[in-house]
This record gives sequence, structure tokens and C-alpha cells, in this order.
Amino acid sequence: MGTLATVSVLILLWTIRVVPTEASSGQKLYEASRVGNLTEVKRLSEGTCEHVNWKQGNNYTSLHLAAEGDHIEVVKYLLACNANIDIQSYIGETALIMATEKGHFNVAKELIENGANLWLKTDAGDTPLVLASRKGFTDIVQLINPYSTIVNTTAKIHTLFVLMIIFAVTVFILVLSLIGVCLYFRYKLRSLQLSSQQHALAFNNDENQEVVHIYEN
Ligand SMILES: *[C@@H]1O[C@H](CO)[C@@H](O)[C@H](O)[C@H]1NC(C)=O
Ligand SMILES: *[C@@H]1O[C@H](CO)[C@@H](O)[C@H](O)[C@H]1NC(C)=O
Repeated sequence: MGTLATVSVLILLWTIRVVPTEASSGQKLYEASRVGNLTEVKRLSEGTCEHVNWKQGNNYTSLHLAAEGDHIEVVKYLLACNANIDIQSYIGETALIMATEKGHFNVAKELIENGANLWLKTDAGDTPLVLASRKGFTDIVQLINPYSTIVNTTAKIHTLFVLMIIFAVTVFILVLSLIGVCLYFRYKLRSLQLSSQQHALAFNNDENQEVVHIYEN
């Protein structure tokens, strides 16, 4: 009985044993790309571009991680090795999308110059252009589409703002001028009224004097 239990326990331990598995060259290359160790990437690909398209279970490749980490030299090397540029992760991300989400302009530029697909979307339906504009990376937005309406919209908003300020200042100056003109005419009118009253008074005096003259005569 004791022996059976011991054997069972031993069998169980053997089943769940932890065997240190040697990482494959592909996996090591993937790790070296993640940290941006170009020397190691070159060594692991044995100068012959071996393993560059090794994929992790969720379909991330070395290019994805080098792009995400802004490791431009590794990205260049992998592209020179004809790494699959448009491969998508389990949620649809391409290397370009990874670079765009982090705002890595130089990596995005390198990928686009090497023909990365601009229209592949994440599972959420976002293209690199949408992601770049949502995150406010205007340099990448312009890189993807120099005539983008999204950039123009921002520019339009700025123009509108400036126009509104100019309009407000103009209205303010106009109102001030109008008040000035009104005050001026009020003053003019008053002095006119005053002088006509004086005239009237003077006239009355003359008339009175004439009346006096008539009486005297
Ligand atoms: C790159 O990897 C090699 C080999 O693993 C290592 O000797 C070297 O120190 C690493 N370089 C950097 C900058 O981490
Ligand atoms: C990885 O990509 C392959 C095709 O290249 C696909 O068949 C598989 O379903 C993908 N795996 C995941 C987890 O998305």
C-alpha cells in the first residue's frame, strides 16, 4: 500500500515536472528584437536571416516588437532580411500600427518607405491614420497622408479661433468708436443749443429796447 502510494506520488511528480526548455533560436531572436540588441539579432539570424519571421503564440513577430520598442536599427535589419512587413497580431496589429500607437515616427517612416500596408486595421477597426490622429501624433498623420483632412481640421479650428479673436477685437473697436461719435455729437448739440439760447436772449433784449424806444417817442 505504502509502496503504491509512493509510486503514485512519484508518477504524479514526473508528470508535472518542470523541464527547463531551451528557447528556440526564433524565440531568442524575438527577445533580442524586443530589447533592441542588434548584435544579438544578427548573431541569431546567423547572417542569413534565419528565423526572422518566427511568431509567438499570439502572432507577434520580431518586427512587431522592434517597432514597438523604437529599435530602428533592428527594424532596418529585419526589413533587409525580408521580414513579413504586414503580418498581423492576434488583434490585427501590424508593425506599423505598433509604431504608430507609440508615436515612433522614424520607425513608422522606415516601414512606410518599405511598403507597409496603410489600410490594414486592428480588430477594433482602426487604421494607422486613425490611431495617429486619435493620439495626436500629427507628424505621423502627415507622414501617412500629407493631405489628411484630420490635420486640416485642426488647422481649420486654429484659423477659426484666430478669426473669432479678430472679429471680437473689430467689434470692440467699432463699439468704442460709436460711443466716441455719440459723445462728440451730444457735446456739439449741447453747445449749439446753448448758443441759440444766447441768440434768443440777445434778440429779446433788442426787441425790448425797441419797445422802450417806441414808448419814449
Ligand atoms: C546583446 O546580446 C549579447 C549576447 O546575449 C550580450 O553579450 C550583449 O551584452 C547584449 N548587448 C546589449 C547592449 O544588451
Ligand atoms: C496566427 O496567424 C495564423 C495565420 O498566419 C492564423 O491561422 C492563426 O489563427 C493566428 N493565430 C492567432 C492567435 O491569431
